[in-house]
Amino acid sequence: MTGTGTVANQAATVDPGAPLLLFDSGVGGLSVLRKVRAVLPEAPVIYVADNAGLPYGAKTEAQIAARVSGLLGRLTERLAPRLVCIACNTASTIALASVREVLEVPIVGTVPAIKPAAALTRTGVIGLLGTEATIRQAYVDRLEAEFAADKHLLRHGAPELVAAAEAKLRGERVDPAVYARAAAALRAMPGGDRIDTVVLACTHFPLVEDELREAFGPEVRFVDGSDGIARRIAHLTQGQAWRRTEPDLALFTRGGEDVDRLGPALAAHGLGRIGIF
Ligand code: DGL
Repeated sequence: MTGTGTVANQAATVDPGAPLLLFDSGVGGLSVLRKVRAVLPEAPVIYVADNAGLPYGAKTEAQIAARVSGLLGRLTERLAPRLVCIACNTASTIALASVREVLEVPIVGTVPAIKPAAALTRTGVIGLLGTEATIRQAYVDRLEAEFAADKHLLRHGAPELVAAAEAKLRGERVDPAVYARAAAALRAMPGGDRIDTVVLACTHFPLVEDELREAFGPEVRFVDGSDGIARRIAHLTQGQAWRRTEPDLALFTRGGEDVDRLGPALAAHGLGRIGIF
């Protein structure tokens, strides 16, 4: 995922206090952070949510690429992370290559887990839920051609699920019809009644996986990339020392009541401080 020279050579030179930086448009990246915590509990983390730009899924490719590279440039300069994880499928499928070209820090992206889904499906019909921007990406076409050419991949853009995940983490009640609509949309496509595996191709969606399971029924399995990302980060930081000197930080690009309401969910993910970037 990144060409960074030998891991062992770098281990000696990394500042133990240098954080991992996880980046998303909102709280979606917390689904990745959970898995990173499980393999690297001692790693200091700065979680950045570009909530002033949320939702990315409704933006153009040019808007997303400009926003993500500009922000990540400023963030890495100011925060000096040892590694950046773009914990967002929309940003990764659009801007990963260009961000890697300009930043010197190792970058791990998040892309739709089509490969594991293709290995799991028995019916050969896979559903994919992502943002509207993600599902139209050539990056997704390439993953489909490489790993699921002999399968049937049905894509659905579900911006409502992003809003639902954000609301859930603010402690608000979400109408279950939102989840039912996402399931019904995939089921209504030709062959949709045979879907047995659904790729959660937006990091917000594992945060509402229980609700989606309820909507799709018990025979459907959900796949996302977060386990693989956590393993990749552990591999790239192998042998490095970690020192956390203060509670981990969540940074937002815009403050306000919505951010205040996220406090308990952020604390539950080990993010004890909140700031505005
Ligand atoms: N969490 C982001 C993803 O994985 C997208 C949410 C948004 O539309 O901003 O694609």
